[in-house]
Parts: sequence; structure tokens; C-alpha cells
Amino acid sequence: MQDIHRHRILILDFGSQYTQLIARRIREIGVFCEIYPWDVTEQEIRDFAPRGIILSGAPQVVFELNIPLLGICYGLHTMAAQLGGAVSPSDEKEFGYAQVRLEQSCALTAGLTDAAADAAEASLDVWMSHGDKVTSLPEGFELIGATDSAPVTIIADEARHWYGLQFHPEVTHTKQGGVLLERFVVDICGCEKLWTAANIVEDSIARTRAQVGDDPVLLGLSGGVDSSVVAALLHRAIGDRLVCIFVDTGLLRLHEGDQVMATFAEHMGVNVVRVNARERFLEALAGAEDPELKRKIIGNLFIEIFEEQAQLLRESYGQIRWLAQGTIYPDVIESAGSRTGKAHVIKSHHNVGGLPERMNMGLVEPLRELFKDEVRRLGVTLGLPAEMVYRHPFPGPGLGVRILGEVREAYLEPLQRADHIFISELRKHDLYDEVSQAFVVFLPVKSVGVVGDQRRYEYVVALRAVQTVDFMTARWAPLPHEFLDTVSRRIINEIDGISRVVYDVSGKPPATIEWE
Ligand code: XMP
Repeated sequence: MQDIHRHRILILDFGSQYTQLIARRIREIGVFCEIYPWDVTEQEIRDFAPRGIILSGAPQVVFELNIPLLGICYGLHTMAAQLGGAVSPSDEKEFGYAQVRLEQSCALTAGLTDAAADAAEASLDVWMSHGDKVTSLPEGFELIGATDSAPVTIIADEARHWYGLQFHPEVTHTKQGGVLLERFVVDICGCEKLWTAANIVEDSIARTRAQVGDDPVLLGLSGGVDSSVVAALLHRAIGDRLVCIFVDTGLLRLHEGDQVMATFAEHMGVNVVRVNARERFLEALAGAEDPELKRKIIGNLFIEIFEEQAQLLRESYGQIRWLAQGTIYPDVIESAGSRTGKAHVIKSHHNVGGLPERMNMGLVEPLRELFKDEVRRLGVTLGLPAEMVYRHPFPGPGLGVRILGEVREAYLEPLQRADHIFISELRKHDLYDEVSQAFVVFLPVKSVGVVGDQRRYEYVVALRAVQTVDFMTARWAPLPHEFLDTVSRRIINEIDGISRVVYDVSGKPPATIEWE
């Protein structure tokens, strides 16, 4: 079997908000890459053995290595500054669209142009975001492209295969950005496109088999994307030696528990133990109003139930030595710029943190190298329904934080049904993929409504839909009024006890996406 990590690109992170996006673009091209922090040592780079390095800044050590380099934005500035050029703060800051005149050709840009066919010179439409600019070229470099406000926009030292770009090739607004990155990693660095979903599946299967041998592996299946893909992958790798525990908290979306069982147990033949724990969760949550307390109760009970089940399984399987988790690459990067790659983050209670040590288990984390979009593609490759794999995120504590204040059984079903109406209408109107996350929140306050000639005091629900890239900031989604009208009518007509529907028009910040 081929080694899909053989040809690799290193991306050095100087705290640019674009670093992960660069990495995702390289992976999309079909080449494996990793992100290391800027203060990497020369030995660490040599150990990683990249075919090329992309810099969002530039530590001195990279110039000692005989490896192709691509400096982007601040990467260009530091490259120029360290190699004898000059950088100065610009009076004109440039943000957004710019047109780069191509003054001469280089391996990165040869033959490219976004200019009209009859234009006198070739040019590229790019996306800029910078204050500083390079004012004189470092030694050995040629000027390839310029804009009016940034006279040094593209530079190249073809002998050493070192290149610098003032603009951002990784954002889609730069029309030829994908081509530029592909030329760097494939043509200039000579990487083969080995990083494909099918190859990643094969590789993960082989590595998991090598890691666990004939041992059984335990997985907490939550129904979320990551644990679902882990389940599908491990099922391919080790068949019924994968044992899943699915704790149905009762706080999931309508029919979700049944759907998880249908997908995994019935269709795929995965070994899944379903624990119906709705009563226990409701009991534990009785009287709890504080959101953080509710999160704690839900998380702790989840772990308690998981441990009980693991104990039962040990009686039939003997000692289970491996616990699988859906840790993904952003978790690994975020865990304190973890150079060592050893830190583990506990994302939510579904990644049953603390358990591996307590239960004396090793970790199996087949998604550790992957970005979310890669996990999704892997899921589809493994035969999971696209609808499941491309679902909006759902918080670990589930509807427990979407019923404001105390979680009562009487609120759960109306909320589940209202949420189901909202989501299915979004899908029906092709709006589901236009929003990043959408859900209904149950407000346990009563407002007046008139039914027939009777005044009735019934509950209120809020519709929430946001658009966001990173979930750190978000805008409320401008859903069409007629659409909101349809959803509102259906909810009020079909669900007893709800007489008013409101739409949340708060951005994050200052509001958060969830209401608790
Ligand atoms: P907020 O409300 O903080 O949400 O703007 C940002 C994203 O995080 C999700 N979220 C959670 N996910 N456990 C989770 O696993 C939680 O306790 C939790 N709280 C919020 C939220 O759904 C949104 O996607």
C-alpha cells in the first residue's frame, strides 16, 4: 500500500487567521500538510521532511534548508526583511479586491491571467488584506507582479524555488488562488496527489488494525458527525470488534435516536448498544435552572451511564483496552499550539474525557489529522447518508440548553416537533445549506393568543438561524418573510401549547448562537 503521507507540505503558523484555510486548500488539492507553530526548530522541520514550506511569517531557520518556500502576506514581509529587502508601513491600507499587473513570468504564474482577452498586459484578480508593504526586493529575487499601492506584490527566486505573495491565494475571492497553490505544491514541490478520501480511508484502516490488533474497541456514539464517521471507519477496519455505546439522553432532535440505530445497527450492522436514558436525564435535571449547572449535570450523567455500560460490556468482552474518539485536527492544533501533538482536548461530554486514564484504556483517534470538511467527505465515501454528514452542528447538551431554565418533560416534545418543522421546511425550500446552524428555542413563558373566541395563554418559541464561518462570530440569517410565515403557521397550527413564534435577529457578538 502506498504511503499517503509521503509527500507533504509544512505550514508555519504566525497566528494568521488564514492558516487553517491554507491547510485546507492544500489538502483539497490532494496533498497532505500539517501546521506547526512559528518557533519550530530546524530539527523538527527536518524530521517532518516537507517537500515545501508555506509561511504566514518566516523564521530564520527555513532559509537554511534547501526546500521550496511560499511566503504569503506577512510571510512575504518577513521573507523580504530577513533576506535583505525592505518593508515599511503603508499609508494606504489595502483590504479586499485588487488587480495585480504581471510584469514578468515565473513558475507560479506562467500563462495565468484574469484580464480581458484584448488587454495589453496579463493581470490577476486577487484579495488583499495588509497594512505593511515590501518596498525593496531581497537579493536574488525578481519582481513578478505589482499593484498601484503595493509595488512588490509577487516575487520569485526561481533558482531557490522561493516565492512571495502579498495577497491571499487561499481565499476564494482570489480567482487563480487554487491554481497558484496547486502549482506550488504539485509542480514546484513535486508532491503527488495522494491525499484523497479513498486513500485516507485505506490508510486509517491499516493504521487502526496495526494499532489495536485483535482487541475490541469501545466507542461512544453520539449521532454527531465525528463519532458517526469514526464508527463507520472502525467498522470497516475491525468489524464487530467495534462496540458502540449510544446513550439516548432524550434531549436529541425528533426521532434522532431511532435514526442513529437505523443507520448504524440496522443498515450497516454495527454493534451498537442503545441506552434509553431519557427518564434518568429528566430526573437529574429536575429543578436545575442555571445553564452551566445543566451542562454539568448532563455531562456527568452521560459519563456515569457510559461507565456503567462499559462495565457491563467488560463482563462479556473481558478487559477492553481501547477507547475510540472523534478528535479532529483543529482540536489538536487548538490544544495550546500543541507542538508535541500529545495534548488531548475534550470537546464536549461526548468525547468522554478522563475516561481513558480512569479505565486504563488507550485512545484510537482515526480523525486526528483531518479537518471537518475532510471528515465529512470521508463519511460520504464510507457510505453514510450525505444528509447526516452535512448536518448543522448540534451541541452536546442538546435540547437541555434549548429549553430555557428548568428542563421539563412537557416542554420537550413540543420543542422537538417545532424544531423538526423548522428544519424540514428549511430543507424543502433549499435553505438548509444557506445557513450554518438553525434550531428552535423553547421559552417557558406564556403569552396570549385567541383561538375561536377564547383567549388562551400558551408558550412561545424562538426560531434561530445564523450564518457563520467559524461560529466565533455570526450574523442572523436573513430568511425570507414568506418562509418564516410558513414555519410560524405550521408550528402554531400543528403543535398544541404554542401560540407565538418569534425570530431571533441578534448577531454574535454580542448575543451567542445558543440562548443559554
Ligand atoms: P455559542 O452559543 O457559544 O455557540 O455562540 C457556538 C457553537 O457552539 C455550540 N455549543 C455547544 N456545543 N456543548 C457543545 O458541544 C455545549 O455546551 C455548547 N454550547 C454551545 C453551539 O451550538 C454553536 O454551534
